[in-house]
Amino acid sequence: MTTTTKRLSWLPFLTEDIPAEYTSSAQIARFELNQAMNKLAADKKVELNVLPVQSDDYTIEQQGDTLCITAGEPGILYGAYALMMNLAAGRPLPEGSQQPRYALRMLNCWDNADGSIERGYSGRSLFFEGGKFDYDPKRMRQLGRLLASVGLNVMCINNVNVRYPADQLIESWLPELAELAAIYRPFGVKLMVSIDYSAPMRHGIPTADPLDEQVQAWWKQQAAKVYEAVPDLAGFLVKADSEHRPGPFTYGRNHAEGANMLARALKPFGGKLVWRCFVYNCQQDWRDRKTDRPMAAYEHYAYLDGQFEDNVILQVKNGPFDFQVREPVSPLLFAMPKTDLAIEFQLAQEYTGQQIDIFTMAPMWKEVYDDMGADKVMSIAAVTNFGRDENYTGHPFAAANLFGYGLFAWNPELPPEAIVRMWVCLTYAMDQLSQDALVDLLMGSRRTYEKYTAPLGLGWMVSPNHHYGPSPSGYEYQAWGTYHKASRDAVGIDRTASGTGYLMQYPERFQQLYGTPESCPDVLKLFFHRLRYDYVMADGRTLIQRIYDDHFEGLEETRAMAETLKALPLPEADKAEALERMERQLVNAREWCDIINNFFYGYSGVEDAHGRKIY
Ligand code: GCU
Repeated sequence: MTTTTKRLSWLPFLTEDIPAEYTSSAQIARFELNQAMNKLAADKKVELNVLPVQSDDYTIEQQGDTLCITAGEPGILYGAYALMMNLAAGRPLPEGSQQPRYALRMLNCWDNADGSIERGYSGRSLFFEGGKFDYDPKRMRQLGRLLASVGLNVMCINNVNVRYPADQLIESWLPELAELAAIYRPFGVKLMVSIDYSAPMRHGIPTADPLDEQVQAWWKQQAAKVYEAVPDLAGFLVKADSEHRPGPFTYGRNHAEGANMLARALKPFGGKLVWRCFVYNCQQDWRDRKTDRPMAAYEHYAYLDGQFEDNVILQVKNGPFDFQVREPVSPLLFAMPKTDLAIEFQLAQEYTGQQIDIFTMAPMWKEVYDDMGADKVMSIAAVTNFGRDENYTGHPFAAANLFGYGLFAWNPELPPEAIVRMWVCLTYAMDQLSQDALVDLLMGSRRTYEKYTAPLGLGWMVSPNHHYGPSPSGYEYQAWGTYHKASRDAVGIDRTASGTGYLMQYPERFQQLYGTPESCPDVLKLFFHRLRYDYVMADGRTLIQRIYDDHFEGLEETRAMAETLKALPLPEADKAEALERMERQLVNAREWCDIINNFFYGYSGVEDAHGRKIY
């Protein structure tokens, strides 16, 4: 039996690799418990009561020294990991029957067949290299273990931007897809694939029109082949009519017509059609002040509510733009009560520091969840942050986001701090004070990053294309619809009824909350309102002073984070990695602080009230 070379972040007590021959969750559960229980609670025995059902649910009961887990597949594995992790963290075991809040707890990998990862910051793809499947089965099982330990159950393995030869996943690569699916099956992880809407056109069919009979027949026949190879494939993920991807608009069809055609092909096999709502005009003229990009998803989809097949899931990004540091919750999530929706987050830190800067997301997800309301959405998805790097997530602390996402998807009501603390506690054996210091550092990291990057809800001041570092006007005169409209006197866009009208897409309570600059929370003021630099905030500071203060504070807080980090008793490899990245974060924070302050000083001409240096 081989032994893993690297401690797996939050599962340090599992050091032996899972053998290839296991084909059920119960077998893996037994293997894991066998190697862990001696280390975690040698005085206790574990009994598995495996029910002959497919279910995520589990219960753990204690009778004397025996802990009994009762569950079907894959719930038995979820129960086993919950038991081990709670013992390892010194937490009470979960009481009563445990059920996940979301049935589909999805990961979307943006991996390309050539081995690159779109917006990937942890090395190359774990699945592909050189235009073909290329993976280490041992690592696949390690990843399966990580995902199952936090209850994630669907993984879409390829980029939503499907480029040749990734389109072969549902054609000539089906045997390899089936092999990979078999590796993940005992972990309760079903695979999903992103498909190219125009695929029939590479098979002599002159169109991809969803109402065309030949097109429909091609997809039906293709779905049958796919499910013959992988009978439990979770389904297809589709990015259509978005950022130059093909889609039904080309044929004058709407997205219900477009999605339903594929959904009907998948339905006989129990497959889901996950259709992304990230659709907007990416060829906007910056001079055009009427078009407001955040309005796009609602405009394209809300009117179609009730028209989708019952195996369609519309996947909606958490905010109306695109994973910015701070956005209000997407209004589309409230507008489609008759449609199955999935909310989409991005663990990959595209706009949030690229796994160089520390940005722990659990507090952000909870805010979104609280705004969204408990019963709005049935499924959850997140763009992954893992890759071929030895520690999977590049920055060792970025693992807290993968871990946290799983826990959140299982129970979004958990306090974010409990999630983060659990990760810290499991990952690092440290004294209480150090643990507290790391939890505080992670919990505050998003607010700090926000302070030095995004002034009060204005996003998009990032460098174009790669999206790391500041460039306040980098997107201002481009076609992407992402503007701040800073001028001599004011900044921001009025998105209320008197402006673009975006606010009117929300239910009444949000209209009240965001409707006036006074009622709107500070962190979103410039998302909803255009304000003069001398606008006086509730605490008496002017808007411009608040912008300066936030940026200086963000830099100072980053310096404090660096000091905390230096003092933490982390394992050597993680410490070296974290410190090296922190050096880069400090440079980044300073660039942001000075460039954004300089930018607004240049427009407003207003001096900093505290006489700090503005270049
Ligand atoms: C962002 C990101 C793209 C990605 C897109 C998407 O725009 O920059 O790389 O393809 O989101 O979500 O589809």
